[in-house]
Amino acid sequence: LSHPRRHPRDAHRRGGALDPGSVTAVILAGGQGTRLRPLTYHRPKPIVPLLNVPFLAYQLALLRQHGIHDVVLSCSYMVEEVRAAMGDGERHGVALRYAVEVEPLGTAGGVRNAVDLVGGLVVVLNGDVLTDADLGAMLRFHADRRSAATIYLTRVPDPTAYGLVELGEGGRVRRFIEKPDPTQITTDTINAGAYLLERRLLDRIPEGRMVSVEREFFPGLLADRIPFFGWVGDHYWLDIGSPAKYRQGQLDLLAGRVATTVSPAGALTDGSFAAEGIAMDPGARVARPSVIGAGSRLGAGCRVGPCAVLGPECAVGAGAAVEGAIVWDRVVIGAHAELRDCIVASEARIGAGAHVGAGVVLEAGAEVPAQARLGA
Ligand code: GTP
Repeated sequence: LSHPRRHPRDAHRRGGALDPGSVTAVILAGGQGTRLRPLTYHRPKPIVPLLNVPFLAYQLALLRQHGIHDVVLSCSYMVEEVRAAMGDGERHGVALRYAVEVEPLGTAGGVRNAVDLVGGLVVVLNGDVLTDADLGAMLRFHADRRSAATIYLTRVPDPTAYGLVELGEGGRVRRFIEKPDPTQITTDTINAGAYLLERRLLDRIPEGRMVSVEREFFPGLLADRIPFFGWVGDHYWLDIGSPAKYRQGQLDLLAGRVATTVSPAGALTDGSFAAEGIAMDPGARVARPSVIGAGSRLGAGCRVGPCAVLGPECAVGAGAAVEGAIVWDRVVIGAHAELRDCIVASEARIGAGAHVGAGVVLEAGAEVPAQARLGA
């Protein structure tokens, strides 16, 4: 734990209304991100780039937009990488502190570990949810209901992969159904990975061991009849925790489907972002919407986009095509190679004439031989 800070315990309720300035956010950023492997072998999920910006920057922007500037990152996996990317938060307009676990403590244990850094009301965000949820409206709902715990719920067409949350009268949480089979589906509202918790509830979480928010902490609140409400939002919401969704989140950002104040580095020209120091052959074409990272080189006759993201310092060979692909930094793409709807991590090398197709995820430093065909 660094820089503990004192908060008056009831500051958030002063004067009857909730003051977002006295709310602390705890972002759960300690998971191993197994579904996003191999990308997460070298870069933890909270800082995987979305349009070349570390994911957490989007969450910090959301918090800042709603007047929340005091943020704790609850970390356990690749902590130094997270710290190097996010620093003290100044660049993002927030004050960032870190609660670091010696051993992973799970989704509730990670919040418990931050208890000394938080004030009267805590906003907990999963560190893998891209959303433009109206946190201000959620705070008002929490205050109006005199709730002790409020959970943000979202509707999804196929809830079988998620935790269903059934609501009763006035939005009170009635039941959790984790990863239901089709016969158990009684509602389409799922746990969206954002909670408001009165600080005193954190004392209910046992210290020093793995505790799950969904399996242990929430059921305990229900059993003890704590005022526990669900707030259903109809905002953009996506769990970016799998490769397909990680890519989808970026397509949605490019299409303007997510309301965010974060934008990629560089100037917006013809519907695409181009950062500084790009060397582009006069015969290279960029099709909108795309994002090109600083210092990238685009060779003669190559085509980048639509819906391509090139990280910093990439090299795209002559006649190559990059479409719908997410390419991290320092990737070298050989002449006449094609990358479509795939994800390529840092410093991979794609041989000349190779084809990397839909669904392929290449790990950092991967080497694809010339003329190879991967994926669809
Ligand atoms: P998968 O392994 O792919 O499921 O990803 P994950 O490890 O991130 O797990 P999951 O998606 O269930 O985690 C939800 C959120 O909680 C993510 O933002 C994780 O970073 C975070 N998280 C998961 N486990 C821990 C933990 O032990 N400690 C902390 N601090 N955060 C955690």
